[in-house]
Amino acid sequence: MPDLATVVAEIAAEMAAREDRGTVATYIPELGRVDPDQFAIAVALADGSVVEGGACETFFSIQSVSKVFTLTLALGLAGDRLWNRVGREPSGSRFNSIVQLEQERGIPRNPFINAGAIAVTDTILSGHQPKEALGEILRFLQFVANDDAVFIDRQVAASEERTGFNNRALANFMKGFGVLDHPVEHVLGVYFHHCAIAMTARQLARAGSFLAHQGRNPATGHRVVTAERARRINAVMLTCGHYDGSGEFAYRVGLPGKSGVGGAILAIVPGKASVAVWSPGLDASGNSHLGRIALERLTARMGWSVF
Ligand code: DON
Repeated sequence: MPDLATVVAEIAAEMAAREDRGTVATYIPELGRVDPDQFAIAVALADGSVVEGGACETFFSIQSVSKVFTLTLALGLAGDRLWNRVGREPSGSRFNSIVQLEQERGIPRNPFINAGAIAVTDTILSGHQPKEALGEILRFLQFVANDDAVFIDRQVAASEERTGFNNRALANFMKGFGVLDHPVEHVLGVYFHHCAIAMTARQLARAGSFLAHQGRNPATGHRVVTAERARRINAVMLTCGHYDGSGEFAYRVGLPGKSGVGGAILAIVPGKASVAVWSPGLDASGNSHLGRIALERLTARMGWSVF
């Protein structure tokens, strides 16, 4: 078995040397200001240690990777009732697509496309003011990362709040079908802010650890969810975590993974590791270009694909 530290160092050097870096998202103007020439990889292991390469202490916008954690929280609140308002099938459509919503009576295909994540956020709002719901989400991230330095980047949230017309359309459309319980602006306020959570690759790798170890964070000993729930969240990540690029990601990387337009990917190696990669340039499906290539190399060299 190759040495993990050597493999991680090699991948970081290879990614630093590449000229093809994808395209930084600009539809959220604040994300368009991020330097594409950055890369980080952090691998959190069962003994609590983290093997790192690149800029693992640089904060980035986790964007849709936050949807893994809001799904975990919403399942904790609503249990399997959550699946009455959001499906768990791949959409085959872009992350912000509206086409299936009309045909499927306002029920989003899965919790990771924007429409589905907005429905999940609505579930977390139950019995809470928006500020309290957001506080719950932030504290949960800090808890699973075991690090209070995780924060909400207000500038990124405000930037999306100014330009989030597409998400407003999705939310209003679902509201029209009776799928959302709370006022659209409350739900979107919480959604935009949880997408704007900023973390480092080291923190994100640690935060995903409970999914790699049957629901228990090995670094802290905290049980976050049951083994069964961790397995199911991983299944949805594998099938839906990269939107219309989910098949390609499973084919090339072979791990449950969740991407975000900030350029982060969280990937889970069941029983072994939680991996965070970050590179801001995206591919055509809105997933990190170098992040995916780095994970492909990691699983190939370490023999870590689940298949
Ligand atoms: O709602 C949005 O469009 C963003 N806040 C999140 C989208 C996202 O991260 C898609 N992922 N690759």
